[in-house]
Amino acid sequence: MPDLPTARILAIETSCDETAAAVIENGRRLLASIVASQMDIHARYGGVFPEVASRQHILSLVPVVEQTLAHAHMTLDDMDAVAATRGPGLPGSLLVGLNAAKGLSLGAGLPLIGVNHLEGHIYAAWVHPADVEPPLEPQFPIMTLLASGGHTELDLMEGHLNYTRLGATLDDAAGEAFDKVARLLGLPYPGGPAIQEAAEQGDPAAFKLPRAWLEGTWNFSFSGLKTAVLREVTHLEDAGQPLPVADMAASFQAAVVDVLLNKALYAAREYKAREILVAGGVSANRALREAFQSQTEFPVHIPPLSLCTDNAAMVAVAGYYRYALGHRDGLEIDILPTWPLS
Ligand code: KG4
Ligand code: ZN
Repeated sequence: MPDLPTARILAIETSCDETAAAVIENGRRLLASIVASQMDIHARYGGVFPEVASRQHILSLVPVVEQTLAHAHMTLDDMDAVAATRGPGLPGSLLVGLNAAKGLSLGAGLPLIGVNHLEGHIYAAWVHPADVEPPLEPQFPIMTLLASGGHTELDLMEGHLNYTRLGATLDDAAGEAFDKVARLLGLPYPGGPAIQEAAEQGDPAAFKLPRAWLEGTWNFSFSGLKTAVLREVTHLEDAGQPLPVADMAASFQAAVVDVLLNKALYAAREYKAREILVAGGVSANRALREAFQSQTEFPVHIPPLSLCTDNAAMVAVAGYYRYALGHRDGLEIDILPTWPLS
């Protein structure tokens, strides 16, 4: 990596159901970050309704960008580049953010940088608020576990923007499993925070739920666990017994944490990583954070809670490293709804 340039990046994130913008200075220092969540709107449907999401992005985007620049006490003239999530994500949602970024880039004469959303989640670990001393940067090689609503994968990161994918989920993503199991338990969308809250009152050993270790591979599978919960729920319903929601939530959460922690830990040892980095919406989970912080011999980086779920600060940092490597996109770039990390 050449000497890192000083630069301010304005970033836009609209890959799913959050309309977000942020300004990051020099690849780490967070000057402003605004996230307009559509969660309440989608909760009515029990999941993200893509058509509604893109319309909502159109309504929210301009005010969110204006407020972000105002919070940073800056204008477009103070920026060095505009970054936007190009994929993966919902096509209609991605289009709104990328096209807005193209407009800003053209209007202000700033370079445009398309960013991979998964890369963004990982780079959330570099962000620090402007008013605190920067913590130590993650040190390569890093074993990264990305666990979100759409993806679950293990990647070895040997340098900036350099990933080797070791394994990924063969079926449901970890966050998707939280969302589906929450639905089975009658808990609201999004399921992760709802299960976490219910689990606080439950016994993680109450139900013996399966762990799919998929030994000999670094892949994951969560659909069998979801089916096991369904079987228990149906069995209790058929027997006319009440559903012990807290115990079931705690047992399910423990099974997911067990697999994510141990696979990441063994991979980190096997590949001689120096550190472990956990990112994506599921990294907001308290039990997961505590397990990683207390049960490995590695330094562990997990982004602050507000940066685990979708935001634009993480996109700005990933955009910064692309900018630093000389990467520039033309106005002709299109969205990449299924863009893999590597
Ligand atoms: O990264 P993210 O905001 O969006 C995607 O890129 O997918 O992740 C959203 C996912 C949802 O499935 C949500 O249920 C899960 O992250 N999530 C959690 C928690 N907060 C969000 N899962 C477990 N525990 C949480 N506290
Ligand atoms: Zn995400």
